Amino acid sequence: MRPDPLANLGKCQTLMDFPADFIRFLTSAARVVVLTGAGVSQESGLRTFRDAQTGLWAQYKPEDLASPEAFARDPKLVWDWYAWRREAIKGVRPNPGHYALVEMEKRIPQFTLITQNVDGLHRFAGNQNVLELHGNIQRVRCAECRTFTETWGDDTEAVPTCLVCGGMLRPDVVWFGEALPRVELEAAVNASRTAHVYFSIGTSGVVQPAASLAYAARNKGSVVVEINAEPTPLTPKVDFAFHGKSGEILPQLVRAAWRN
Ligand code: OAD
Repeated sequence: MRPDPLANLGKCQTLMDFPADFIRFLTSAARVVVLTGAGVSQESGLRTFRDAQTGLWAQYKPEDLASPEAFARDPKLVWDWYAWRREAIKGVRPNPGHYALVEMEKRIPQFTLITQNVDGLHRFAGNQNVLELHGNIQRVRCAECRTFTETWGDDTEAVPTCLVCGGMLRPDVVWFGEALPRVELEAAVNASRTAHVYFSIGTSGVVQPAASLAYAARNKGSVVVEINAEPTPLTPKVDFAFHGKSGEILPQLVRAAWRN
């Protein structure tokens, strides 16, 4: 018997009714771009940025834990918050939505996955062409000379320092008020402008500049698709909107599009 090429998506049933013209656009597209946000990791058990602030951390505003000003004011507080979050995602695994995007990448000639998530789950699942617009919480670099490091001491009193220049270490994520990494952003804009099909998945679509990518795609004639638990400001502008959990809709979509 021929092995099922989509076997690792599990035995999901196709409950969604995907319009035939949408499936045709997708299966004939040479260039597909997917932008993901926190909603895609929700079914892996990860809370969104604001929801993640529980217990001890609930007393702080996000800007007090994730901004250059916060780091300058109280570097140890910021370091500890990220150390806590790194610890919290250690056992977290990709969900069927992540794996469906891996299957999609295998079937599309030019596939670009742009993510606002810092959890690294898309690469963990197996996606290859991933642009991490907001960085990656697992990477640590020097706040001064930007040298990356994979090991640091466990001093409980102070923020660990860089072996090269002695500067303080920080997570390689984009903080409030910081610019996005230039190379990734340029690649994301270029991919969006030339996409035949553009997906916005699990993102509220309100944080710039990521939110504007859908409009860049739409203005150049892409078919724009939204998959989200609920309607967003982008919904009235898209060609197709599917509301529900991405971990359920994406595997069904991949099966519906490529089951033969
Ligand atoms: P948000 O928390 O703003 O939005 C998450 C979206 O996911 C919401 O629209 C939910 O309806 C949707 N959602 C939740 N569960 C879902 C599920 N199972 N399936 C599908 N959709 C689901 O997160 P982002 O849009 O990613 O920036 O936020 C963007 C940026 O704002 C973050 O990267 C972060 C934050 O401030 C930085 O840290 C720089």
